[in-house]
Amino acid sequence: MGAARAALGAILLALAGVAFAQAAAPTPAPALLAACAACHGPGGNSQLPELPSIAGQPRIFIENQLVLIREGLRDVPAMKAVMGGLGDEEIVALARHYAGQAAVPLVMTVQREQRLRGAELSRRALCGTCHLADYTGQKQVPRLAGQNEAYLRLSLKQFRDDPGPGRDTIMAATLLGMRDDDLRDLAHYLASSRP
Ligand code: HEC
Ligand code: HEC
Repeated sequence: MGAARAALGAILLALAGVAFAQAAAPTPAPALLAACAACHGPGGNSQLPELPSIAGQPRIFIENQLVLIREGLRDVPAMKAVMGGLGDEEIVALARHYAGQAAVPLVMTVQREQRLRGAELSRRALCGTCHLADYTGQKQVPRLAGQNEAYLRLSLKQFRDDPGPGRDTIMAATLLGMRDDDLRDLAHYLASSRP
């Protein structure tokens, strides 16, 4: 409990810093954008199936996740090097930049039966109450429509099995008791929904 409270305190402090930085957000340096693009693809549309696209995500979602990743509350070892020296202004500028990019989902083959099973699971688990009915996300809640299927599968497994201190606990709770097959069906349904 003490650790959880300390983690929450760190999150709130870090987010307050970001809110303060809103006023003077510069545009991100081209070299920084190039570093992000190496993994997240041109304009934030990841061409690597297991990595998330960040184009067209809600600005607040991107900001929050970058702070959590920088503070180590969401553990993304691949991003340690690039996030290390980033200040709040740069995070604000990055979030604004990527929120303004158009999402271009990867081409995929839709399996009708699997999509229907995923839709039914999502309906029963009320995923749309937070992610919105068309899964385009809002505020701190990410867009799921058109996100890479392989990444969604990994992410859902991580939420169910090992969410870590910075992840949303209500979000994780919606997956309790779901089987691996269920997570695969959900990922297929969401990836093949169009933003
Ligand atoms: C070396 C590869 C790499 C680089 C460089 C990188 N990222 Fe990431 N990023 C990842 C991986 C891998 C994940 C997903 C981790 C996971 O599985 O949760 C991620 C996750 C994210 C997320 C959370 C997305 C989501 O949907 O949950 C955001 C936002 C993000 N990165 C932004 C950036 C930005 C902005 C930059 C440039 C400053 C950057 N990343 C550079 C690999 C990278
Ligand atoms: C109570 C609101 C809420 C509900 C209900 C909810 N989510 Fe979420 N979800 C969130 C929030 C907030 C985040 C971002 C915070 C985080 O990653 O810890 C998130 C993140 C995610 C992510 C990570 C996406 C990414 O780009 O990293 C996936 C995948 C996801 N949700 C799928 C689902 C599915 C599937 C359901 C239904 C079974 C669901 N969510 C129900 C609030 C919710």
